[in-house]
Parts: sequence; C-alpha cells; structure tokens
Amino acid sequence: MHLSFAHMSDPHNPLTPNVTLGQLLNKRFLGYKSWHRKRHLRHRPEVLAALLADIKAATPDHLIISGDLTNIALPDEFAASRVWLEQVGPPQDVTVIPGNHEAYVHVPFDQGIGQWAPWMLGDNATEVTFPFVRRRGPVAFIMLSTATVTPPLMASGTLGKQQLQELETILENLRGQDLFRCVVLHHPPEDHPTKRRKALRDRAAFREVLSRTGAELVLHGHQHHSHFGLINGPAGKIPVLGVPSASMSLTHTKGDEARWNLWDVRRGDHGWRLSSHARGLTQRGFETIGRWSLDMPLS
Ligand SMILES: [Fe+2]
Ligand SMILES: [Fe+2]
Repeated sequence: MHLSFAHMSDPHNPLTPNVTLGQLLNKRFLGYKSWHRKRHLRHRPEVLAALLADIKAATPDHLIISGDLTNIALPDEFAASRVWLEQVGPPQDVTVIPGNHEAYVHVPFDQGIGQWAPWMLGDNATEVTFPFVRRRGPVAFIMLSTATVTPPLMASGTLGKQQLQELETILENLRGQDLFRCVVLHHPPEDHPTKRRKALRDRAAFREVLSRTGAELVLHGHQHHSHFGLINGPAGKIPVLGVPSASMSLTHTKGDEARWNLWDVRRGDHGWRLSSHARGLTQRGFETIGRWSLDMPLS
C-alpha cells in the first residue's frame, strides 16, 4: 500500500484587472495597494507555472493545495483561480482548501470558494463542508478551513468549535482503520511560527484534539516559508510541515523561494514509512533541495 502526493500552497494567482471602486471601499483597498506596490513582484505567474510543470513531471498520485489562491477575494479572482484549477488537474486528483486571503472580506459562497467546489468535496459528498475527508490509497486527507473574515491588517484564522468537534470525531473514527491520517489546514497550528496578527486563534484547541486522537502528519501554508515542527500526539510526536508560497520569485528573501514537497507514504510490516522530497526554485529552475524519511510505528 503506497501513495505519493504533492503539497503546494499560497499560489496567490495574479490580481485580476476588473476591479471597481465599490469593491475596494473596504479592507481590500490595503491589499490592492500592497499588490501593486510589492506583492506582484514577489508572486510571479511564471514561477507558479514552472512549479506546476515540476510537479507534473514527478507524476504524484495526488496534489494538495493549502489555500491562498487569491489576494483580495474579488469574485473575478475566484473565477480566474477556477480556470487555473481546471488547468492544474481534475477534481478527483487535486484537493483544495481556502486560506485567509479567500476571506479577505465576506464574499457570498457562490461568488467565492463555491466556484472551486469540485476540488473541495469530500468523498461521495454533494456539498462543501469542513472538515471534509478524501481517501486516496492508504491516506485519508482531512481538510480544514481556517478562513475567517478579519479586520484590516489582520490575517489570523479560526477553526471554530464545530469544526474542531467534527475533526475529533473523524480522527477518532479513522484511528485503527489502517489509514495514514494527514490533516491539512492553511494556518500553522503551533504557538510561535508566525506573528500574532497572522496566527490561528484556536491553535491550542486544535493541538488538544490531536493530543487525544493522534494523526500521522499535519500540513499547512500561510507563512510563505518552510517550517518543520512537532506537536504532541497520544503515542508520540506528530510532524508538522509548512511549505513556502508556490509563486515566490528568487528576488524575495533567501530561503523563501517557491517550493513544493513530494510525499511518499508506504505501509510496512510494523508501521508507516513517510518520505519527503523538497523541490525548490534555484537559479537553474526547480531542484531537489532536501530529503528526509521517518519510520512511524502504528498508532
Ligand atoms: Fe499566503
Ligand atoms: Fe495566508
């Protein structure tokens, strides 16, 4: 039993040109200015295209995208990202969750993330709910939404009580089913990897759930740099991995260039073997910049 999958995050597709003044008379105004001042130089569509070509060349079985496809949550941006998703891959092979930029301001579901519904449906589901679960080979992907509307200059996220309760039920039910439980959320779940104004508010409650139920892996984006951490599970530590933005150019801070991770999950006689292969942007294009593997006893 084995599955390979790619994880990328924060593509921040280019801001669409059709913006009205009325759409900018809110928090979006700051994001709009920021995009035209500096962010359009950092998040480059040609970098994103090269990253996707690199993923396709690796032929993973599945692709996980952990949010921030847009910038200021304009309906046009959601539509453009839908077109982009169609090019990335079919919904059964690509799974998406929203990030805080998808909740920059309140957007009706149909004009917002609802446009990406086929990529955000759980197995056999007909409507989008969070958490949702997709099983692929030996892996159960448990997909969460931390996207909540916040005041200007805030980029925090929240899971909320209901989602946390459902997460606990799902993880508990999947425990003992011989599945590798991979939890995916946009914001990092630890205390220190990001500034308070950008943090997941109920991260302690999230960690408490996982300390009871366990999980085999937690993946996230949001920080725009790579991150490795460990949180407590009932039988040992759970690895937490964050990946930089998928469109970050070489001109930005060294070490934060675009990156994606190729994961391989295999079931052995005594547990799981988890391998990771980091592919990052260099002057020569995308190259392998790190590898590691971990043997995990069955929980
Ligand atoms: Fe982002
Ligand atoms: Fe984010």
